[in-house]
Amino acid sequence: MDALEAIHARRSIRAYKDLPLRRELIEELLWAAVQAPTPPVSGQAPWKLCVLEGAERLAGYGQRAKEYARTHQPAGQHWEWSERPEFEVFWGAPALVLICAQMGNPETPYDCCRAGQNLLVAAQALDVGSCWVGAPIPWLRSPGVGQELGIPDGYEPEVAIVLGHPAQVPPGQPRPRPEITWLAPRSLP
Ligand SMILES: Cc1cc2nc3c(=O)[nH]c(=O)nc-3n(C[C@H](O)[C@H](O)[C@H](O)COP(=O)(O)O)c2cc1C
Repeated sequence: MDALEAIHARRSIRAYKDLPLRRELIEELLWAAVQAPTPPVSGQAPWKLCVLEGAERLAGYGQRAKEYARTHQPAGQHWEWSERPEFEVFWGAPALVLICAQMGNPETPYDCCRAGQNLLVAAQALDVGSCWVGAPIPWLRSPGVGQELGIPDGYEPEVAIVLGHPAQVPPGQPRPRPEITWLAPRSLP
């Protein structure tokens, strides 16, 4: 599959087979993730990559993340998903990748997002299902959770992506063609 095919065919997968994902495959995806461009200000490795495995273990964390969100609604916003019974935080996936940003460096969240997008496209290219999940981030960053999970000191989860063998692939959500403004050179008098 070429890069364009992978970009256009990728969908967020919210149903996974009850099968683990081989570590070699996860490693290959993370290797693709870190090929993302980074500016000099970020240094060579502005992130820490963490992997949590096990659908059951993740489902338990997902319940905690949902409960945390339900009881810590941000001012002026309502995380309605935290009250929807059918909403799953990790969708039964067997693996979760956390791309953790170096705290205190304002550039590193962007680095992590670029790596995350690479990861999604690489997963598609290797027939691995993926879904970027923002829902668990508030819980993952809440006091004590980073330490409990073993996230390295000085880093916080910026990107969370579940991975697994897809059980169901939803139809695409067609995007509108982008409006492009071609900036012509200023015409000379
Ligand atoms: C930053 C970010 C956070 C997201 N959080 C969630 C989430 O918590 N749960 C979920 O099921 N999907 C989540 N998504 C997936 C989006 O809902 C999905 O990408 C969007 O609906 C477009 O569908 P597609 O990925 O299949 O093209 C998130 C996507 C992004 C980029």
